[in-house]
Amino acid sequence: MTKMKRIGVFTSGGDAPGMNAAIRAVVRAGIFYKKEIIGIYRGYEGMIEGDFVPMEVRSVSNILQRGGTMLKSARSKEFLTKEGRTKAFEQLKKMKIDGLIGIGGDGSFAGMHHLYLEHKMPYVCIPGTIDNDIPGTDFTIGYDTATNTAVNAIDKIRDTALSHNRLFFIEVMGRDSGYIAINSGIAGGAVAIIIPEEETSIEELIEKLDASGSQNKTSSLVIVAEGGKSGSAMEIAKKVQERFSYFDTKVTILGHLQRGGTPTYFDRVLASKMGVAAIEGLEAGQTDVMVGIVHKEVIFNKFDEIMSQPKDIHKDDLRIAKILSI
Ligand code: F6P
Repeated sequence: MTKMKRIGVFTSGGDAPGMNAAIRAVVRAGIFYKKEIIGIYRGYEGMIEGDFVPMEVRSVSNILQRGGTMLKSARSKEFLTKEGRTKAFEQLKKMKIDGLIGIGGDGSFAGMHHLYLEHKMPYVCIPGTIDNDIPGTDFTIGYDTATNTAVNAIDKIRDTALSHNRLFFIEVMGRDSGYIAINSGIAGGAVAIIIPEEETSIEELIEKLDASGSQNKTSSLVIVAEGGKSGSAMEIAKKVQERFSYFDTKVTILGHLQRGGTPTYFDRVLASKMGVAAIEGLEAGQTDVMVGIVHKEVIFNKFDEIMSQPKDIHKDDLRIAKILSI
């Protein structure tokens, strides 16, 4: 067991629904284990500036059900530099913080890893990103909520698409990952799903649309992941429209609405479990790791072991999407 007394908690990178639930879990579990918990505002930006606040049990009341992050978030350019990280470490030392728990995506994890290598600051990362693009965990915090939000939007678009016999291209977030796209596409009954993990040519897409048109489809929805190699939803729609006039074509970009909103029960429970695990892991001497839940079991993944590999899309999801979109 470590003698850690003061633990800093922060959120970093793109916010994700459920981050508040994770902050609450870290604060409450930390206090349960007799630690002092210090909140760090605005991610690495706030760390560099010493923007700290002591957290009490009641500091995290009434946040479990809220989207966003009460500690705010940022993408810090300065922290990417060695000088920036040294400034951040000096602030942590001044505040007598002897361990860190950061909630964020792969960039946030990499930031903590560098701070650990350069200054030996122990840490546990909690994966919080709507993209679900980090290996070492079945799900990241926020992904379930964001995908449900996308499905809700897709259902609404289908109502209007059906009323006008239209073809819609709906762009979803995910950076370089097709997780939100593939699963919102299956759940929303898309005719085609374009993801970065798989090449889809315009010819293939038109063939697919042609086939569904000849089977009397009265509307069609194509889900496009923002990071796809074939281009944005707007670009793909333009190319398709030039050669395929069966439907009137429209484009909807869901954008940041996927980042907000009340977290689902799944994300709240995931965040709560990961928050407690992060405190218990740090106390047991885990460091340079990300907590993950794989097949319902809590695990700790070393940075070097998981960050050298991409998180693959489940191949069977692609197969199912194709079978069902005939
Ligand atoms: O990583 C989360 C995410 O929402 C991605 O899906 C998206 O590509 C990116 O962040 C958008 O970042 P920003 O909010 O900085 O525009």
